[in-house]
Amino acid sequence: MNLKISPSLLSADFGRIAEEAADVEKAGADMLHLDLMDGHFVPNLTFGPPVVRAIAQHTRLPLDAHLMVEDPNPLIEPLAKTGVAWISVHAEACRHLHRSLDLIRSSGAAAGVAINPASPLCMLEEILDNIDFVLLMSVNPGYGGQSFITSSIDKIRRLRSMLGKSCTEIVVDGGVDHTNAHALVKAGATTLVAGTAVFGATDRQSAIEELKRCALKA
Ligand code: DX5
Ligand code: ZN
Repeated sequence: MNLKISPSLLSADFGRIAEEAADVEKAGADMLHLDLMDGHFVPNLTFGPPVVRAIAQHTRLPLDAHLMVEDPNPLIEPLAKTGVAWISVHAEACRHLHRSLDLIRSSGAAAGVAINPASPLCMLEEILDNIDFVLLMSVNPGYGGQSFITSSIDKIRRLRSMLGKSCTEIVVDGGVDHTNAHALVKAGATTLVAGTAVFGATDRQSAIEELKRCALKA
């Protein structure tokens, strides 16, 4: 399978963002995960489209923008203009989820829905044809470095069976490391977001290789 590792920049040194992005690109990352937080949907606050534009100028990695914001619609077009490849919005935040997904796809990016650990998969039932990926949170959004919620593995399995043979990607975000990577991929995940496990490692290339090796072991 074509497993992707998407390091989350939230765990990088924000004083050296461009170098950090270049570093994980060299280390073998497949994508770069960008956590946009507004201080309302989650307590934490990060960055917006101007910083994403600057990051995009320093890496060739496809960018994966995870919008943890209460009102994502005004951000979609500006983000798409920076060239981000994937944009996900939270089902819990969007009053008109179908419209937000349409906005993402018409802006040229792949559309994803993110759901919190406590949100049921049935929230996705009516929009399966409108999404390119599901971003399943395996921690409560807001911070890096939290412990993986183990019930997420069964949730991925149920999501995979709900998606049937469709090629919708399943992205897992939160507490991913080499100890759970195998179970996540076996359950049906196709992209692993990893903040601490990659940016927190002294040898990031080995960390990415180890994640892939553990995830894909027989
Ligand atoms: C959490 C973010 C994650 C976070 C993951 O709200 O969405 O992307 O950076 O970090 P780790 O891998 O450290 O849990
Ligand atoms: Zn994220």
